[in-house]
Amino acid sequence: MLGIETSCDETAAAVVARDASGRGAILSNVVRSQLDEHAAFGGVVPELAARAHVTFLDHIVAQACREAGVTLAQIDAVAATAGPGLVGGVLVGLTTAKAIAAATEKPLIAVNHLEAHALTARLNDGVAFPYLMLLVSGGHSQFVLVRGVGDYERWGTTIDDALGEAFDKTAKLLSLGHPGGPAVEAAAAGGDPKRFRFPKPLLKEERLDFSFSGLKTAVRLQAEALAPLSGQDVADIAASFQATVADIVATRAGQALARFARELPVAAPTLVVAGGVAANHSIGAALRQVAQEAGARLVVPPPALCTDNGAMVAWAGAERLALGVTDDLAAVARPRWPL
Ligand code: KG4
Ligand code: ZN
Repeated sequence: MLGIETSCDETAAAVVARDASGRGAILSNVVRSQLDEHAAFGGVVPELAARAHVTFLDHIVAQACREAGVTLAQIDAVAATAGPGLVGGVLVGLTTAKAIAAATEKPLIAVNHLEAHALTARLNDGVAFPYLMLLVSGGHSQFVLVRGVGDYERWGTTIDDALGEAFDKTAKLLSLGHPGGPAVEAAAAGGDPKRFRFPKPLLKEERLDFSFSGLKTAVRLQAEALAPLSGQDVADIAASFQATVADIVATRAGQALARFARELPVAAPTLVVAGGVAANHSIGAALRQVAQEAGARLVVPPPALCTDNGAMVAWAGAERLALGVTDDLAAVARPRWPL
């Protein structure tokens, strides 16, 4: 299966194999990040992203095939992200996939990007259904019960900013650069996580949703109150912010695991974490502790598979193809597409 991902600022293609028993193997996984294109703007500019996908996607697909040792004629099918995401980029990837499918007379699979994140743990770790997924990326923060391929139930989401977005905005505020997550984590390493008490919006309510915009405002007000910020101030704000979100995510994960144990007759629940924020060590440590307390197995795929990539799209396509689910060339790009 060839997989194409172009829904944000990564131009990615991969070739993945799936055997009859459902085991997966990554034959190639090529990602070209557009960090440089967007660096001057402090965030992803949709029009620039779409243009860069146009420029580079053909080369990335060719490289993915070359590294996998296959030609386009030898693949069984082609999958592409059809949404949700920045629609210009999605159109580039989906149209390219359609062209390949038409030219090679192979099936097309139009993949939901969130489904691709959700199924990645089966490719790398062979996780069995059902499991709970926490997706924390630049665009999403949600709990999804994954019952099977195409069988998802969203248990909670953010009512405002995504968690990665909160990291990125905090980084911008502290002049730490883009992407903000790794920058905030690095700054936090030298800071005091207890110096500031930031709010934990929504946490008192019994629901599995997130809210991060009030936290962002609190961070801004604190930074303004201290301005001009010393290096230590920046580190302490970053550390306090990170500790706050780690606590929020861990608390919610504990509640979600409790619900899972109540509603699903599975001996040991599995919590899968996906999305770029899964790379954060403080959040990872907090989640490990919560999972341990709940008697759950925690699965965090390696960062290259947690962040946007082609292998996850190829794998979702392979899982769908194994069930005989394909799409026709009329498949549309969908900027919004809830699971
Ligand atoms: O999954 P991803 O690569 O792209 C999508 O948004 O789909 O996630 C990117 C997000 C960015 O907001 C980035 O700042 C955040 O993940 N991120 C992190 C870390 N590494 C990446 N956030 C916190 N800590 C990190 N180490
Ligand atoms: Zn993503």
